[in-house]
Amino acid sequence: MTRHFLRDDDLSPVEQDEVLTLGLQLAGDRFGHQPLAGPKTVAVIFDKTSTRTRISFAVGIAELGGAPLIIDAQTSQMGRGEPIADTARVLDRQVAAIVWRTFAQTRIEEMAAASKVPVINALTDEFHPCQILADLLTVRQHKGPTAGLKLVYLGDGANNMAHSYLLGGVTAGMHVVVGSPAEYQPDPAVVARAAEIASQTGGSAAWTADPYAAVDGADVVATDTWVSMGQEGEASLREAPFVPYAVTEQLMSKASADAIVLHCLPAYRGKEIEAAVIDGPQSVVWDEAENRLHAQKALMSWLLARSFGS
Ligand code: CP
Ligand code: NVA
Repeated sequence: MTRHFLRDDDLSPVEQDEVLTLGLQLAGDRFGHQPLAGPKTVAVIFDKTSTRTRISFAVGIAELGGAPLIIDAQTSQMGRGEPIADTARVLDRQVAAIVWRTFAQTRIEEMAAASKVPVINALTDEFHPCQILADLLTVRQHKGPTAGLKLVYLGDGANNMAHSYLLGGVTAGMHVVVGSPAEYQPDPAVVARAAEIASQTGGSAAWTADPYAAVDGADVVATDTWVSMGQEGEASLREAPFVPYAVTEQLMSKASADAIVLHCLPAYRGKEIEAAVIDGPQSVVWDEAENRLHAQKALMSWLLARSFGS
């Protein structure tokens, strides 16, 4: 059966652990594992801009022995309205997997429904699950086992990162707290799903409007831009409500003394995070960015093995 990775809970807790364990192994052995040798081609399609995702998938596919095919959707017929399902049917006869960064989650669900090869979500408006795999790998490297750790995300609680931290964090057995303005709360359906997973893993999922209560005793503090891709027209509205949730040195004094700081990047210093924090000793954001490579190589290997036994 073809396995896709469209949202964080497409991997069970055991499966997520398998992917992360392989990711740690690949971080120490970049070129020793080549399931895409041939080379097999992997299509990586972008409806939105990208630096890290584009680089890490292109490099990762090559390191797995494969050939990356990077497609800017606007320069393909997708940009002129060719149906998603038709694009899937053209691609899946030629490529081993499809990676796609797009807008609504329903679009990537449509691609997966029509594709015989694994489809991987490289960010949608609702979820960014590849980023959370990289973040969990970073937490393992710096803090050891994830179960029982407190992970706090501050900022836009309704965006893709908030939703993926909720689902991916509880899958890893973490206590996930989202701190955000009340008008930017996570989707209640995602919170309910996170609570359901948490009841199996020993984690928990919570939301609060109080940034100090959120960060109290945190082991991991994460944030993201207040203006996600596609929201540029709301930029002026998306500042004042978030200022109390900025990750400052003052706020970090409430976290555990050995807490680490994550940011998926790109970062806006002086907005969602102080320069002294992101450029300071608790920040592990460059490891986090590198871990996109290792986590996605592990994910692609795992999905292909599960789908085709290769
Ligand atoms: N973190 C992340 O996905 O970065 P890019 O938008 O640069 O790919
Ligand atoms: N929430 C951000 C993440 C960027 C990697 C966005 O969607 O733009």
